[in-house]
Amino acid sequence: MIIAIDGPSGAGKSTVAKAVARKLGFSCLDTGAMYRAVAWQAVQNGVSLDDDAALGEVARSYDIEFVHQPGEPTPSGVLIGGTDVTAAIRTAEIDRAVSPVSAAPSVREALVDQQRRIGNAGDYVVEGRDIGTTVFPQAEVKVFLTASDEERAHRRVRQNVDRGIGSIDYEEVLVDLRRRDKVDSSRATSPLRPADDAVMLDSTNHFIEEVIDIICGMADEARAR
Ligand code: DC
Repeated sequence: MIIAIDGPSGAGKSTVAKAVARKLGFSCLDTGAMYRAVAWQAVQNGVSLDDDAALGEVARSYDIEFVHQPGEPTPSGVLIGGTDVTAAIRTAEIDRAVSPVSAAPSVREALVDQQRRIGNAGDYVVEGRDIGTTVFPQAEVKVFLTASDEERAHRRVRQNVDRGIGSIDYEEVLVDLRRRDKVDSSRATSPLRPADDAVMLDSTNHFIEEVIDIICGMADEARAR
């Protein structure tokens, strides 16, 4: 079974996806981490971020691997070309670089192929922007998770404080988050938008536990069908 969780950054997708996967015994796939890893490699290689062909070449030639602790469904780290980039892909530099990289059609083509291969191998909670519309349009459960811009910026600041990386300036984070939403929603290939059959959930006024329970309930219903 595939549970697709899409939505803008900071809506709580990662927290929700990990908790749902743990409860249901599913694996978890963070597709944003894959775009970030390609962005990191492109920056390392000095590739121009508007060169679609060169970015596609990076996406096709470097293996992306997720590192799992034994018995944990959620990966603890990510490697590209054998280099551990778990922390390096969360910096402000990669926050900026990932927008043009994820808008490159040849990067999307390469990564969507890999995402389908991974997801088709088992029961997965897959989080991203285009999972319900493009990667797994046949997903049994589709959720579009949102929250207000302000709430999302507050959460991102708290997350950056906890991780010790990224900006902790609320205004800066809010501006960057709105900029990325705009780029993600207006790009030509697979823009951020809810699938027609996605269930819209707003996490601003819901406890995250409620959102998790709703999605687990949807998975139970889908299983019973
Ligand atoms: O979820 P995130 O913030 O880690 O995602 C990083 C970037 O990748 C973000 O700018 C949107 C993009 N992305 C995408 O275009 N498609 C996906 N399926 C996942 C992420």
